[in-house]
Amino acid sequence: MANFVDEAAVDFVRRSFATEDGVLASIKGTCRSRDLPSITPEAGRFIQLMLRSIETERVLEIGTCLGYSGVWIARALPSSGTLETIEVDSERADEAREWFEKADVDDRVEVHTGKARAVLPTLPTNYYDAVFIDADKESMTEYLDFATRLTAHGGLVFADNVFWQGTTFTEGREIDGTAEVRAFVQEALDQSNLDATILPLGDGLLVGRVG
Ligand SMILES: C[S@@+](CC[C@H](N)C(=O)[O-])C[C@H]1O[C@@H](n2cnc3c(N)ncnc32)[C@H](O)[C@@H]1O
Repeated sequence: MANFVDEAAVDFVRRSFATEDGVLASIKGTCRSRDLPSITPEAGRFIQLMLRSIETERVLEIGTCLGYSGVWIARALPSSGTLETIEVDSERADEAREWFEKADVDDRVEVHTGKARAVLPTLPTNYYDAVFIDADKESMTEYLDFATRLTAHGGLVFADNVFWQGTTFTEGREIDGTAEVRAFVQEALDQSNLDATILPLGDGLLVGRVG
């Protein structure tokens, strides 16, 4: 993945404020060894702090993978809180459930196995305090539309990989998914009920407030 921030600075943040415990380090290691994606520790820590700052109770995640970001999120919630997370791959969903158990957050996490486009229309509107979009790029714009409808007023929307390896903002450089991510960013700018920006964390993390 391209680096958008000085490596030494990222390393400093990871060692000081975004440290992983054994479970997070094991999930990250498993993802790396199998070439599976997961957010960076500093993005996980940032999302966690933002969720705590608005005293989040209900979070929806689109794209569970093995549950790395899910553990950061679930740990931001009170014991009465819930994280619902959607994963199309049933083996990954099962593995994530095991990691949530090991992280001792399984009491507050529900994994929906299935395609996000099938699950999202079944979920309640104006209900979640935050939605994290981190699944296939093809449907990202559609997910943003769902996210702003499912999130209650004042809630937060996050989305990972909005730099898409730098191709989002580099004219003439396109890879699979670039057009979709560019369309997503434009939609985030156009949505009148979303006040958003992008942080250069990992591959670009969008954060917005639904108003
Ligand atoms: C980038 S990974 C998620 C990483 C995870 N959020 C983390 O940081 O630990 C994206 C995941 O979305 C899943 N996915 C892809 N298309 C999907 C879809 N249409 N519906 C639900 N999940 C999907 C993939 O199987 C993959 O596990």
